[in-house]
Amino acid sequence: MCGIIGYKGRSNAIPLVIHGLKNLEYRGYDSSGIAYFNNGKINIYKKEGKIVNLESILPNDNSNLAIGHTRWATHGVANTINAHPHRQGKITLVHNGIIENYRELKEMLESNGYQFVSDTDTEIVAGLIDYYYNIEKDMVKALSHLRLIVRGSFALGILVDGDDHLYATRLKSPLIVGIGDDGLFIASDVPAILDYTKKYFLLDDYDICVIGDDYKVYNKKKLVNKEVLTFNDSIGSAQKDGYEHFMLKEIHEQPRVVENLISLILNTDTIKLSDYDNIQIVGCGSAYHTGLVGKYIIEKYLNIKTECFIASEYRYGKIFNTGKTLFVAISQSGETADTLASTIIAKEKGMHTLGIINTQGSSIARECDEVLYINAGIECAVATTKAYSLQALMFSLLVYKEIKDNNILEEYNKLPKELEKLLDKDYHNIVKKLYRHEDIFFIGRQNDYALCMEGSLKLKEISYLHSEAYAAGELKHGTISLIEEGTPVIAIVTDPNIAEKTISNIKETKARGAYVLLIIREDIEVNSDVYDDIIKVPNYSIFTNSLLVIEVLQMIAYYVALSRGCDIDKPRNLAKSVTVE
Ligand code: M6R
Repeated sequence: MCGIIGYKGRSNAIPLVIHGLKNLEYRGYDSSGIAYFNNGKINIYKKEGKIVNLESILPNDNSNLAIGHTRWATHGVANTINAHPHRQGKITLVHNGIIENYRELKEMLESNGYQFVSDTDTEIVAGLIDYYYNIEKDMVKALSHLRLIVRGSFALGILVDGDDHLYATRLKSPLIVGIGDDGLFIASDVPAILDYTKKYFLLDDYDICVIGDDYKVYNKKKLVNKEVLTFNDSIGSAQKDGYEHFMLKEIHEQPRVVENLISLILNTDTIKLSDYDNIQIVGCGSAYHTGLVGKYIIEKYLNIKTECFIASEYRYGKIFNTGKTLFVAISQSGETADTLASTIIAKEKGMHTLGIINTQGSSIARECDEVLYINAGIECAVATTKAYSLQALMFSLLVYKEIKDNNILEEYNKLPKELEKLLDKDYHNIVKKLYRHEDIFFIGRQNDYALCMEGSLKLKEISYLHSEAYAAGELKHGTISLIEEGTPVIAIVTDPNIAEKTISNIKETKARGAYVLLIIREDIEVNSDVYDDIIKVPNYSIFTNSLLVIEVLQMIAYYVALSRGCDIDKPRNLAKSVTVE
């Protein structure tokens, strides 16, 4: 989603901010901009499209104070006027988030003589701060008014005419302050500043940070101390390491991060799921899909009623807290607005909240009663791969720790090697039969159906090829009418207890001319007339085979998108971290 970086220090802020913006490109954006001090004046440059477009209009200036932004359009179309920074009166700022009551604020400001040129809610915030700054003559006091008057979410980086400080404040939208040797940074996300410093602290809601040669943080107009953290991942994790795309690199990291997580969780005290009467799992997109994998494994092996919800539905639905309920929020970024809101609601309902999160110190992590970090490292590709796998693995490990079966332990030991072997398969031969189609169907039952949903999402989001995931038995209740000569069907069969049922559904599609790619556990017998192509995965249980199957589906999605010439790491219209509803 939108990205912010700001810098105040001894180096030239302009190239540094541009570089930081490039490190945020993976979040998704459609325009970018920068504002900087030069000869006592604030200069603003912004441009629709990629950051190179912005660079092409930048003069060769020097500055020690700048803010930059990548915008992902919400209020107002993606164009240069709506791009940030925005300016009103003496205030120039960049903004992440959404101002819900911007209409009433706009009316109030217009009645006080303000005029707006863009369609954004951001320009209203600039006007609002200017309005209060004119009254208060003090930025901390002016920014303190936001607490009382603004509804919604914001992370703001602010410059003021005639003032060489950088100001920052936030509400429900992430913002950090980085501490470098040559200066101080603000950023919406750690990768923006990782090339300059690993030391940072998190701003809390309504904190106001004033950055000069040093920094001060205020909340409710009182000074507050901040705990300085060290980002403990390598800078290399935000680089491609010779891979053509982050997505491919991140898929290839799975064997290593899986091995690390297994060893970490098996040697750490973790929550006991069977202490709870029921479990509610909430997430969005792929995170929701890992919740479904969690549901199947928890219900089957621990016999605990487990429901899985899409966060944007959960938060507006009827929520039951019956008995002792565990609420599990799943999120790679830890910033997804709907998952965060659901977590807050679950807490209000008295549930114990557990976060399965990748990003340390993120908003959801801070909201949950307890957190299990998946330690995937930075995931740059918009399409999640390694984080999905580790979230699914986390559920598997939590269940395993309660049933302690040696066969499963053996599978965990072999899993990294098996994941590596599957990376070496020849996917090209299969992909060339898929990539020219416009519709693909994924079918499976139970946990395989959950994997189909993820495989289908992965394919859609990066290849723009339409696909649907279907519970195999449901196909003949309508959708089978879409199967015609050559329609690709990807079928997953990993559960011997229901294999026969799914195979008969596959035959139904084959009889109507479908091209069938079968992904099947190697010990399950199947006649060769059931499929056109087959990929066999090892004879492993539900505790590990989800990771094997999903890796195959990730590789297929990747190569289909590659064959279709798509922008794999930054698919159109998508953002890595969805911090608005
Ligand atoms: O950061 P989160 O895990 O909360 O993100 C949730 C979804 O937005 C995310 O999984 C999305 O579906 C991915 N683009 C899928 O690859």
